[in-house]
Amino acid sequence: MATIAGGTGAPHARIMGVGAYRPTRLVPNSEVVDAIDSSDEWIQQRSGIKTRRWAGPEESVQMMSVEASRIAIERAGLDVGQIDCVVVATVSHLLQTPAVATAVAHELGTDGAAAFDISAACSGFCHGIALASDIVRAGSARHVLVVGVERLTDILDLTDRGTAFIFADGAGAAVVGPSDTPGIGPVVWGSDGEQFDLIRQREDWRDVVGTDTQPGSGVMPHLTMQGNPVFRWASFAMAKIGQQALDSAGVSLDELDVFVPHQANMRIIDAMARSMKLPASVKIARDVADQGNSSAASVPLALDRMMAEGEAKSGDTALLIAFGAGLSYAAQVVTVP
Ligand code: UT7
Repeated sequence: MATIAGGTGAPHARIMGVGAYRPTRLVPNSEVVDAIDSSDEWIQQRSGIKTRRWAGPEESVQMMSVEASRIAIERAGLDVGQIDCVVVATVSHLLQTPAVATAVAHELGTDGAAAFDISAACSGFCHGIALASDIVRAGSARHVLVVGVERLTDILDLTDRGTAFIFADGAGAAVVGPSDTPGIGPVVWGSDGEQFDLIRQREDWRDVVGTDTQPGSGVMPHLTMQGNPVFRWASFAMAKIGQQALDSAGVSLDELDVFVPHQANMRIIDAMARSMKLPASVKIARDVADQGNSSAASVPLALDRMMAEGEAKSGDTALLIAFGAGLSYAAQVVTVP
């Protein structure tokens, strides 16, 4: 039997640069309330959202990914040719195959980087960071570009009271590369498939198109969400996952500088911060108020904003945590690049 050579990776991995793309169109609550018989007051009270970013026709999943990635690569101090793997987390690239990551890698000008998509909904970016960290440490690639991107407006029913006011569009990207010291802690991740139906595409494509025996609905299979059970799950269960990620990284609450939870709902963010007993010194991402819930893009968008506004500084210790459809979740401690 031949001896197969093992990979030789970096001792550790770190985030080297972060980039973001926000659609130019800012949509206030007043523009969504009529179609869902709601009010600005209700939306702000229940979710903390005042405005959201919705993409225009030119702002495709690929375009937003490329724009965010260019910034992340530049901030990482790399040439695009040094990116040898591209991971795109999304649930709203409507061409099922091939992966949009291959088009993103090509448009960026990588030298034929490995490229694939992952589907973990709102927790996709944190799943991507975990994968990237392992890939770099295993030696399967040296620099991994991770993109979280959504154009959820394509799959939103703007007359659905449960989803129309909450979801949004955008892209965030991070470059993960080698490091002498640990810059990405162990991931704490998991799923609860018993709650598969709580956030889902309403029906599968065969139901839309039809089969030989069954006519199709011909209606876009929109995103549906039973918000309240998700809200309760996220508010109570996710704080424990955040604490586990801190424990796995050996980081105490006093050592934490920045908390970047998935930007789903301001009340969930507040409930998690309370239940984790975060010290007042910890800066908390609150991007959801203006950006809405942009699923896989929400954590990198929020982190990018905190860095731009000086709330998260290079070398700070940040806890990332994301959760959503599946239900699925992932959390890790990282060093801010
Ligand atoms: O990103 C992936 C993960 N997703 C999340 O984490 C989202 C989690 N869920 C949420 O953020 C919240 O559940 C929502 C913001 C979506 C909804 O807030 P809620 O406090 O859970 O409201 P609810 O669904 O329990 O509804 C409360 C009341 C109901 O009326 P009654 O039965 O109390 O009379 C609803 O009929 O509000 C009513 N309602 C609305 N009223 C105005 C439901 N939707 C609306 C609406 N506008 N859009």
